[in-house]
Amino acid sequence: MSPDPSPRRSCHPLRLRRRPVRWEHQEPTWRQARPAVIAGALQRALVRPSGNWFVLGATADVTPARPLSGAVAGTEVVVWRDARGRLVGGPGQCPHLGAPLADSPVRCGTLVCRWHGLSLDGSGYAGWEPLPVHDDGVLVWVRLDAVGGEEPTRAPVVPVRPALAASVHAVWTGVGTCEPRDVVANRLDPWHGAWFHPYSFVDLSVVRAPGDGEDDDVFVVDVSFRLARRVVVPVRAEFTAPEPRTVLMRITDGAGAGSVVETHATPLGPDELGRPRTAVVEAVVATSKRPGFALARALAPALRPLLRTAAGRLWHDDLAYAVRLHELRERGGRETGTTTAKDAGRADEGDSGHGESAPPAITGRAEAAGRVADGSPEDARHQARGAGSGKPAVPRKKRTGD
Ligand code: FES
Ligand SMILES: [Fe+2]
Repeated sequence: MSPDPSPRRSCHPLRLRRRPVRWEHQEPTWRQARPAVIAGALQRALVRPSGNWFVLGATADVTPARPLSGAVAGTEVVVWRDARGRLVGGPGQCPHLGAPLADSPVRCGTLVCRWHGLSLDGSGYAGWEPLPVHDDGVLVWVRLDAVGGEEPTRAPVVPVRPALAASVHAVWTGVGTCEPRDVVANRLDPWHGAWFHPYSFVDLSVVRAPGDGEDDDVFVVDVSFRLARRVVVPVRAEFTAPEPRTVLMRITDGAGAGSVVETHATPLGPDELGRPRTAVVEAVVATSKRPGFALARALAPALRPLLRTAAGRLWHDDLAYAVRLHELRERGGRETGTTTAKDAGRADEGDSGHGESAPPAITGRAEAAGRVADGSPEDARHQARGAGSGKPAVPRKKRTGD
């Protein structure tokens, strides 16, 4: 069975919603969002090979003078550019007395430890051994075989993207108290879009999901991006999970066809209470064949903060959702895929009454618990303190990426 013919084609990307449906009057999606379908897609994603590669951060955050550092499952990592501009990296502890190399400047391609001046050029020295690293032009990856435990591969599973020379891209990073699987599970539930993010999405329908008779593991979604109350951009998009910590959304029809949003989940390691923390690194690579997109590319420096703000708004809520999934699993009550129809029905009834732009209350609860970080300077300081006390740190430069 192939998906329904796309209704997205139009000579103009914008549409006017003639009869906007209020949030509470839209069709509930919980019957289609079967926990078993989401759990099945998640389980299949989790067993795909990653080659032990983890996203560390944005390529643009590795500058000629500063390294990019972070933690992957409690292992401190630092990457920088050597004298030839190649990405190099390795453990984030100085081999002399263990100073954090994250704080070290780069001089002529050499990372110089601030404590006593030991220099690293990216090759092994004094017990410090380089790690495999990869720069795909948008994101920086590091391979940690001891963490991944899989058969290593020479390169990570990088989704096919539009040509960077013909696109605008931006990277947003946030942190939540959850595991990577909770982030992936959130993205493999496209049904929540118009209910949970009514400020961004309306008129959402999942026209195909795994188990609908197709061999491939793809969700096909028709949805409209909301620009103003009645002005929308309808698209068709596909969601896939090419590896265990990545979910890819690709616009296949409508404005910006070919554009992708990659969501990468990287385990950081436990916080001071022993709870798992996960970095969400989301890369937006937008393209369009429309003549006006040349202007958008020219305005890329101004557009990037807007792209990051849009991603951050969605993930502010979605991390609350992921944190909630983790909390429920920790309590032993729920694994993704075990929510009963009875429970879902109660939730559905309880959510009635929100205004069209009112997000459900779960967001506020998770925020109040202080379990969602959004890459703010305050959060970065908090994470840096964690690193200083021997706790895993999040990527230090988190809000840029172009
Ligand atoms: S700790 Fe780095 S040079 Fe001493
Ligand atoms: Fe979402």
